[in-house]
Amino acid sequence: MAVIVITGASSGIGEATAKALAARGHSLAISARRTDRLKQLVQETDAADRILIVPADVAEPAALKALADAAGERFGRIDVWINNAGVSYPDKVPWWELEPERVDNIVRVNFLAPILSVGAALPWLKKGKNPQIINIGSVSGFVAVKGIYSATKFGIRGLTEAMRRELASEGVSASMVSPGYVRTELTANRDQVSNMPGPEIVVKEIVNLVEHGARRNVVVPGYYRVPIWLNTVLPGFVDFALGRRNAAKTR
Ligand SMILES: NC(=O)c1ccc[n+]([C@@H]2O[C@H](COP(=O)([O-])OP(=O)(O)OC[C@H]3O[C@@H](n4cnc5c(N)ncnc54)[C@H](OP(=O)(O)O)[C@@H]3O)[C@@H](O)[C@H]2O)c1
Repeated sequence: MAVIVITGASSGIGEATAKALAARGHSLAISARRTDRLKQLVQETDAADRILIVPADVAEPAALKALADAAGERFGRIDVWINNAGVSYPDKVPWWELEPERVDNIVRVNFLAPILSVGAALPWLKKGKNPQIINIGSVSGFVAVKGIYSATKFGIRGLTEAMRRELASEGVSASMVSPGYVRTELTANRDQVSNMPGPEIVVKEIVNLVEHGARRNVVVPGYYRVPIWLNTVLPGFVDFALGRRNAAKTR
């Protein structure tokens, strides 16, 4: 059974992943700012003795090392580190009008935290079994639709690709799971939310990576590979189509 750290475990994909991994017998360090939600999660499992709660704001650089050390000291090693915590912003406000502090927070949570997690976790991952880092990206890290959010998710894709090459000599693998729209708190205010799949669809892929080893990039649901492919071969067409959609939204 693996020792797994999950950031952003208080809701959505992170919470569902934590529950699934706990039910399968793994040991977890779960982290987020909302400690009440983390405590509730533990109560909903029968694995309290295998779950460590580590409250953390990953926008604070020191939090990543504190999280890694808390998990490492409790379990003696880390086998899997999952960078899942993420934030976005409403579509209705143009991102260039957001307060600089808000922009700073989005970049810190979505991008800087995964970067800093590597140095924080590596000493403990080196003690782990088949150690791996799993970054949660997004389809919008392939097909950019939302300035700051897409930029952070493109960034995490480049980071993961480089990590896979740079960390191979350390025996640590790196993967990325890129969801399309999924029904969570992050998408609660979007149109069509009731038509979105639930987080379970992403959890299945994460559990698969944890238990059967690393793959490069997992896009989920798989049908999002079509727009990703289209964006690669016909970017002008995608510019036109998404440009029309945005124009219709602002009319
Ligand atoms: N839902 C989708 O359609 C979708 C699509 C593509 C990618 N994703 C990605 O999937 C990941 C999970 O998102 P979700 O959909 O499950 O959203 P969610 O339900 O809103 O969960 C986000 C999680 O991130 C945590 N978080 C936010 N800011 C944090 C901070 N400063 N420090 C620590 N934790 C923080 C939240 O916990 P606290 O508020 O308690 O701190 C929460 O647990 C994100 O990386 C997101 O970008 C989601």
